[in-house]
Amino acid sequence: MFDSGFGGLTVARALIDLLPNEHVVYFGDTARYPYGPRTHEEVRAYAVQITEWLVETHDPKMIVVACNTASAVALDDLQAMVDVPVIGVLEPGLRSLLKVTVTGRVAMIGTVGTVASGAYQRLAATLAPDVDLTCAACPGFVEFVERGETRSDQVHVLAERLLAPVQDAKVDSLLLGCTHYPFLARTIGDVMGRDVVLVSSADETAFEVQRSIEALGADREGGGPPVRRFVSSGDVETFARLGRQLLGPELDSVEAHQW
Ligand code: DGL
Repeated sequence: MFDSGFGGLTVARALIDLLPNEHVVYFGDTARYPYGPRTHEEVRAYAVQITEWLVETHDPKMIVVACNTASAVALDDLQAMVDVPVIGVLEPGLRSLLKVTVTGRVAMIGTVGTVASGAYQRLAATLAPDVDLTCAACPGFVEFVERGETRSDQVHVLAERLLAPVQDAKVDSLLLGCTHYPFLARTIGDVMGRDVVLVSSADETAFEVQRSIEALGADREGGGPPVRRFVSSGDVETFARLGRQLLGPELDSVEAHQW
């Protein structure tokens, strides 16, 4: 699995909890992070490069794109490129959102790259054409989370400004369509009010991986304890420190990878 950085570890956590026997290799592309403000071509090229590297060096039975921006712009290319299933976070996230909505008025928030790609909008039109989906980009949210600033007055003010169109749309549920946004859930929840259900894609993505492994008949049972490897293209110390806070004790060491 891979993400632009360490945010996708929220998906890794859900996956390890649901499928504790599976080997996991997590690649965080922290040297080229953040992906959100980059062009679609750049993000696509990075996603292709990482996928090739994962296939060549680890021969996985499945690849999980634990990054909304990369899933939004590159999933189709990656699926066409390799022989193993490639699972993104968009469809699982949207399905969770559709499960909780009562009114059919829903919203998703994500990076500029994700929202501008139109991928969520296209998927919603296919999966649930009757649902009214409002999409809003939230530039700046990721940087606040990176600084560990998830409850400050400044992030609250920014959230009020960025979430205004979502409030106007009178939705009953909101998908946090970016790996970092679950860490802002309290601030986002305060701004949106109690009646709006916040949905994150991590758990549903893990269920999708489970279904896919079962369909392949490729569950791993026995054969020694699972191996979990964490690789980063950036500073491994930072990755280990922040990553451990997100994932927990399983992240005992981080390997460096240089492009
Ligand atoms: N991983 C990205 C995503 O989920 C957020 C961080 C970034 O911009 O790279 O969209």
